[in-house]
Amino acid sequence: MEWTRETRYRAYADWSAETLLKLQAQAANSQYQMGYHIRPSSGLLNDPNGFSYFNGQWHVFYQSFPFGAAHGLKSWMHLVSDDLVHWKDLGLALAPDTKFDSHGAYSGSALPIDDKLFLMYTGNHRDKDWIRHPFQLGAWMDQAGQITKLDEPLITQPDHTTDHFRDPQVFKHRDLYYVILGAQDKETKTGKISLFSSKDLKDFTDLGYLEFTEDNMGYMIECPNLIFVDDKPLLVFCPQGLDKDVVAYDNIYPNMYLLGEDVQLNKAKFEAGTNQIQNLDDGFDVYASQAFNTPDGKAYLISWVGLPDVSYPTDEENWASCLSQVKELSLKDGKLIQRPVVSMADLREKGTSLQAAKKVNAKQQIIAESGEQYELKLTLDTDQNGTLHLAGNDDLSQSLKLEFSTGKDAYLTVSRADSGAQFATEFGTMRTIALPDQQALDLEIFIDHSLCEIFVNGGEHVLTLRFFAEAGNKQIALTSPTEAALNYRGTFWKLKSI
Ligand code: FRU
Repeated sequence: MEWTRETRYRAYADWSAETLLKLQAQAANSQYQMGYHIRPSSGLLNDPNGFSYFNGQWHVFYQSFPFGAAHGLKSWMHLVSDDLVHWKDLGLALAPDTKFDSHGAYSGSALPIDDKLFLMYTGNHRDKDWIRHPFQLGAWMDQAGQITKLDEPLITQPDHTTDHFRDPQVFKHRDLYYVILGAQDKETKTGKISLFSSKDLKDFTDLGYLEFTEDNMGYMIECPNLIFVDDKPLLVFCPQGLDKDVVAYDNIYPNMYLLGEDVQLNKAKFEAGTNQIQNLDDGFDVYASQAFNTPDGKAYLISWVGLPDVSYPTDEENWASCLSQVKELSLKDGKLIQRPVVSMADLREKGTSLQAAKKVNAKQQIIAESGEQYELKLTLDTDQNGTLHLAGNDDLSQSLKLEFSTGKDAYLTVSRADSGAQFATEFGTMRTIALPDQQALDLEIFIDHSLCEIFVNGGEHVLTLRFFAEAGNKQIALTSPTEAALNYRGTFWKLKSI
């Protein structure tokens, strides 16, 4: 399929049922397809949208282009869950079928109000000269899942932004509704977060840009979220074109966060104190994460595991990307912690205890046949250097490598250079984080076919990445440069599909 403007923006009704069925089968039958993560039923998945708790269930939607691995005419697909782990796919929820969202029902959020779920999203409209007009639109979903779009936009492009004005997050704070949006300032062409307030979700007041940093945030901010974690405000956002001297990052575009001391929304002020803007994920492929607060004050986050303007090996199979597992957010000693949700443990089959054998040679095999869906918890003792190989072949010339040092200048490096099919190599094949010196390293690793999520030291860091290993590469092993025995203990579980 050649992705021209015509094929990208062709009306959904003009695609044949046969084509869609073929695409669904391709996505389902791929050796790289995820078994316990949200994945596209066909075509391309991108941002999570409308992540919420409503009518006794968890809801998440995702940006979808169902007709191939391209960023074409976008819609929202809908899934529900009782436990944030097992998701039921309810299919298409918001189609691009009005004049305001004619060129895509773009990203947005959801807020339960009384017995309905309020959806707020960006309608992408292009006129006959292909000029973009972003409209911030509303819709109500009732308890039966019926969605009714509002007839008129709620917010139109303000004079002070360009047409890059999208991704509304709607939330309630101290008796007022607020909406934050990603924006580009018209005069300076820099990335901003726009803020609006409303008493009734009908009339909106433009409060200007949220003040949260003095640094230049690049040329555009996408997908901003403001939530509270243990009563502290947390801003999650994607600055595009951010100078790497402002915050270092390796991916094409970063997904950043900033923890605050306080937020005064009526004054459009987010006070970060001494906190710095940081990478939300230290791996390769996280973007457009969406977070929300539950009625009991918990904070959950889910991410697109994929990046804009990056091609993935499955593009050839006409599908792309997936969502991360849900991560529960908390604070520990003023640091953001991301943890798997408790119900993830329900996916476990019988566990295997792991312990370093007394007598070893250069290679310490941990698991000979891991399969493609597993969780590996491993504690590596202090003062050790070595490499943990995942998805390794027999002689470990191919594997996803986790190189670690737990002595002085401790670090963890993830290298996907020898892990299989290569992609996005212009952004590097390794990611490194510094670790606390002379401390045991705790790893919780989740593998789901072509997805790897690594939680480090109880969620102080997460490294998320896609990798595309050859079928049959299923060895988990440790090697050490000195051929010394490495000390470890842990548990391995195969995980069920959802
Ligand atoms: C981020 C993004 C959003 C937009 C959506 C369109 O990945 O570009 O800004 O709403 O994707 O699918």
